[in-house]
Amino acid sequence: MGSKASAPGKAILFGEHAVVYGKPAIALAIDKRATITIKESHRDYTRIKSDDLDLEAILSPETGLKLKKGEMGILNYILKALEFYHDSTPINIKLKISIPIGAGLGSSAAVTVATIAALDNYHKRKSTLPSIARRAHRVELEVQGAASPLDTSISTHGGLIYLDKEKIEQIKGDLKDSLVIGYTRSEETAKMVKLVKERMERHPQIMNLIMDAIAHITRKARKALKSDDKECLGELMNINQGLLDAIGVNSKSLSEMIYTSREAGALGSKITGAGGGGSIIAYSHPDRTGQILESLTARGYNAMKANPSTRGVLIQ
Ligand code: MEV
Repeated sequence: MGSKASAPGKAILFGEHAVVYGKPAIALAIDKRATITIKESHRDYTRIKSDDLDLEAILSPETGLKLKKGEMGILNYILKALEFYHDSTPINIKLKISIPIGAGLGSSAAVTVATIAALDNYHKRKSTLPSIARRAHRVELEVQGAASPLDTSISTHGGLIYLDKEKIEQIKGDLKDSLVIGYTRSEETAKMVKLVKERMERHPQIMNLIMDAIAHITRKARKALKSDDKECLGELMNINQGLLDAIGVNSKSLSEMIYTSREAGALGSKITGAGGGGSIIAYSHPDRTGQILESLTARGYNAMKANPSTRGVLIQ
């Protein structure tokens, strides 16, 4: 008996961090995925393996967890999902992943969502998308301590979504062949969320105004996406970036990537995700993405073109 499920990574277009304070955000699923395969095991332990991450761990009721290769990182999410949604039957779990890890592109949410869906399928449990998203968010909260439902929602549902206070709406927008993502290893999301919270405590009036301004930008961006007003969308991204800098989540390398992509023809570019390292997203006319990609890689940054994906979690 076996089971296989996959889920996409994500990029936030507008509203990261503000979403933690109840403001809306716009995010999209990208065409990079995490795939979890579960097979029955004839041994007396569970094996978790990922060739992509050079990771191998063994989990046994007698000896607990043994990390044979790699880092705990993403494994924590798989283990928590197993603790919540599996019994003690030994299984073999394989993870394939094309989402850059620890770069703020939703790799942990994608792995969590795929693991829960694969476990549901393995145990022949009927589950709905909202239930997968809710349980994946629970796992993220347990592992990270702080997380909005944004990453797990987008990974579950796919598409381009507008999230407002846990209300998820699929929205229209043509972002095909228009996005480049530059990435370095990020700080932990929880750490960046904490830094923003501390600034909020020191300067509540100023920070609340900034969060409100980000909310205005996000609402206007939704309209710009709908009417395909590319110039406006790009400008809104740049304004959002200025405010992300103001709340303290920018870094030298992120700034360098942002200005490099603007010089190479991006209509807009900004941090995507938690910041402090991590990733930027550049938006441009499709004929400029090649130049943006080249300029980023020429400066030694990791970069990739990213297309929106309408596919959320899939049982395969
Ligand atoms: C992380 O991808 C996005 C943040 O807004 C945190 C969250 O929403 O949990 C920074």
